[in-house]
Amino acid sequence: LLTSNFLFYSSSFTKLPHLAGTEQNLLLAKQIQGQWKEFGLDSAELVHYDVLLSYPNETQPNYISVIDDQGNEIFNTSLFEPPPQGYENVTDILPPYNAFSAQGVPEADLVYVNYGRTEDFFKLEREMGINCTGKIVIARYGKIFRGNKVKNAVLAGAQGIILYSDPADYCASGVDAYPDGWNLPGGGAQRGNVLNLNGAGDPLTPGYPAKEYTFRYKVNEGVGIPKIPVHPIGYHDAEVLLR
Ligand SMILES: *[C@@H]1O[C@H](CO)[C@@H](O)[C@H](O)[C@H]1NC(C)=O
Ligand SMILES: *[C@@H]1O[C@H](CO)[C@@H](O)[C@H](O)[C@H]1NC(C)=O
Ligand SMILES: *[C@@H]1O[C@H](CO)[C@@H](O)[C@H](O)[C@H]1NC(C)=O
Ligand SMILES: *[C@@H]1O[C@H](CO)[C@@H](O)[C@H](O)[C@H]1NC(C)=O
Repeated sequence: LLTSNFLFYSSSFTKLPHLAGTEQNLLLAKQIQGQWKEFGLDSAELVHYDVLLSYPNETQPNYISVIDDQGNEIFNTSLFEPPPQGYENVTDILPPYNAFSAQGVPEADLVYVNYGRTEDFFKLEREMGINCTGKIVIARYGKIFRGNKVKNAVLAGAQGIILYSDPADYCASGVDAYPDGWNLPGGGAQRGNVLNLNGAGDPLTPGYPAKEYTFRYKVNEGVGIPKIPVHPIGYHDAEVLLR
């Protein structure tokens, strides 16, 4: 019984996109509220907060390209994720992006920086003599929070950072990538914010509840927002870039 309930709720919460701030997310919040009341909680309230969030431009999705000497884009990363079988008609799937990425079109050589940890940059700079200043770096997800990878890239002087999901990490437990297992397929990209806020919440009201009475920074003064563009890709595209 427990298992079938879990599958029921998991599928009902995940079958449609429900990004924070969207109508679908509000519907799910109301659904949880209703269920908790049904389960016998004395009260379950929806509380309003005004939190900054960035969304990608859906008509002009971000991508990364390899350019030749003439400036031709000879390879482009995918603008969207191919939908799994049976979900072809699902709409409102935002293109891959990392929330709070800076805008811009940096152009530079690519440097692989492993997980983008402090020790990875030390190894590059001190042991291998590779300088990331002015470069675009590519890091695999894992080991540390993605916002810290971006911070480390900025400290190393990079102009931009690409993040990708490596099945060598997330399929290590033995579950394959979809469709052979339930892990992220090669066309899928992990989204998520790239703030450097140490969990302090909203960049405009860091450390405090994002309410109307709270001191609020202007959007261009937001705390922990990176100064370089960041973009996530899946391993199909990452393989091409790494080659
Ligand atoms: C999104 O991209 C389109 C097409 O380039 C552009 O016209 C529009 O202004 C952009 N929207 C935003 C919010 O930047
Ligand atoms: C990449 O996209 C650009 C802009 O849309 C286009 O001009 C170029 O032909 C594309 N390159 C490839 C290899 O598809
Ligand atoms: C998707 O929509 C088309 C056109 O409305 C319909 O013919 C098709 O059966 C739908 N497919 C699925 C998987 O729902
Ligand atoms: C890396 O290159 C930049 C600019 O070319 C330079 O200012 C910096 O000192 C270099 N860093 C190291 C560790 O060599």
